[in-house]
Amino acid sequence: MDEIHAAAFREAKLPEEGAEPGPIWLYVVIFSTLCFGFFYIGRYLGEISDRPHVLEEGAMIVSNEPEPPQPLFKVGEKVYRQRCVSCHQENGQGVEGAYPPLVQSNWVTGNPDRLVSILLYGINGNLTVNGKVYNGNMPAWETLTDEQIAGVATYIRNSWGNSADTVQTATVADGRKQITRAAPWTEQELNDVFKPQLASGAKK
Ligand code: HEC
Repeated sequence: MDEIHAAAFREAKLPEEGAEPGPIWLYVVIFSTLCFGFFYIGRYLGEISDRPHVLEEGAMIVSNEPEPPQPLFKVGEKVYRQRCVSCHQENGQGVEGAYPPLVQSNWVTGNPDRLVSILLYGINGNLTVNGKVYNGNMPAWETLTDEQIAGVATYIRNSWGNSADTVQTATVADGRKQITRAAPWTEQELNDVFKPQLASGAKK
């Protein structure tokens, strides 16, 4: 018994619990795990920056330059969905007896100046569209920008089988300057002021 104890006391004193240096392989494993971890983050998780979650450059357009202007049709599609769809409907067919169709309507595909003015100032009273008489109120869209009005005019002139020239932003700017109204149009006034079509050759 004593002999066994003597042998135990001869052994080097064990370091205190918790302070033992671990085996060398453990350091190697920890070190390589860290290296791999940093490599992985660096390689696959994008740069360390204030724009996280960008896997590849180009996946997100990063630029301080102003965005290129969107084509009028696109601008107009958005305006249509936000402002017009509730009455004239997704398919431009309107609602029988209440909201006239924009499809195959000469008010839409005819004289662009007239269309712009309808959009700027609205219409009320009797209005004949594709042979049917409507009597409602078309709101004025004067508060939209020239580009938005040109866009929505372009969009309705070139959707659902309609096909007519683009309405330029400048046409809307001119329209605002040339005609200022406080009240919505009536059909009679529109017919007095505008030709249904622009004279041929005067394409805009
Ligand atoms: C609150 C419902 C309503 C909204 C919203 C509305 N309209 Fe109208 N729109 C009408 C009514 C009603 C008429 C017919 C007016 C009348 O009877 O005098 C009309 C007439 C028209 C006409 C001429 C007639 C035709 O059918 O071709 C055009 C063009 C037109 N709207 C385009 C638009 C565009 C573009 C927008 C969105 C910017 C829009 N409308 C938003 C109700 C609406």
